[in-house]
Amino acid sequence: MFSAQFVTRLSKAQSVVAFTGAGISAESGVPTFRGNQGIWTKFKPEELASMDAFLANPPLVQEWYAARRKVFREVSPNAGHVALARMEKLFQRFTVVTQNIDNLHHRAGSLSVLELHGNIGRSYCLQCYREFVDDEIELGSGLTSCPTCSGLVRPDVVWFGEQLPEHEWAESVRAIESADVVLSIGTSGVVFPAAELPLLGKYHGAYVVEINPEETDLSRSMDEVIRENSSIALPELFRLLERAGVQQTETLR
Ligand code: OAD
Repeated sequence: MFSAQFVTRLSKAQSVVAFTGAGISAESGVPTFRGNQGIWTKFKPEELASMDAFLANPPLVQEWYAARRKVFREVSPNAGHVALARMEKLFQRFTVVTQNIDNLHHRAGSLSVLELHGNIGRSYCLQCYREFVDDEIELGSGLTSCPTCSGLVRPDVVWFGEQLPEHEWAESVRAIESADVVLSIGTSGVVFPAAELPLLGKYHGAYVVEINPEETDLSRSMDEVIRENSSIALPELFRLLERAGVQQTETLR
């Protein structure tokens, strides 16, 4: 499944970035955005995932996110998430940079995770910026307003037309620029600026590998493509690394 060159580059890597998208969570039962069953085939992003949409109909957007929050709570990390969490321990620097808001990397045990599009488990008040986590306030039955100031409460996720969180973006660029290997996993690579990251890695000399059963906009820029589901490819990659004698580096941290 993997070339000898890839396994060698990865075995010797000091710094690795796993850039992930909705595809890594697909096998946990979380629908992706694009493709036949994708979320954006049933809903219009501009009606649900933008500030204009929220201000036009706050209860609708809050309820949609409450429904998604419920889905995320009911699913579990899959073998792909778990393999990445295990790989983290094999390298001096291993960073997951994710576009997902589902918290599944954390739940799988990954420690170094940068969430470029926020996390659905957090919300905040647009007026006083009070922050809420998950069930702290009841989100999902009609309009939810801030118990402190009655302001509108929104999910702490990035909507279309909004900037990515500054710290996460800067740290992601830093990790990518110094990466020896970048894995682009389960993303269609069409949403910018996040999709720039694998290309930036390549520009800075990383060996860039896509893991995705389908061709994407990024495929042709990759050094190698693995046409496989991430829940199959990533555990296999972890086994190969173990077999290649890559040791746990926890004591080096
Ligand atoms: P997409 O839905 O655009 O792409 C999902 C990708 O996962 C596709 O390329 C699939 O081929 C691939 N895929 C499906 N099943 C897979 C599996 N089992 N293993 C590996 N890959 C698999 O999702 P994203 O690229 O994450 O943004 O979308 C990027 C952003 O667009 C999202 O963060 C969201 C969305 O609109 C915002 O909400 C701001």
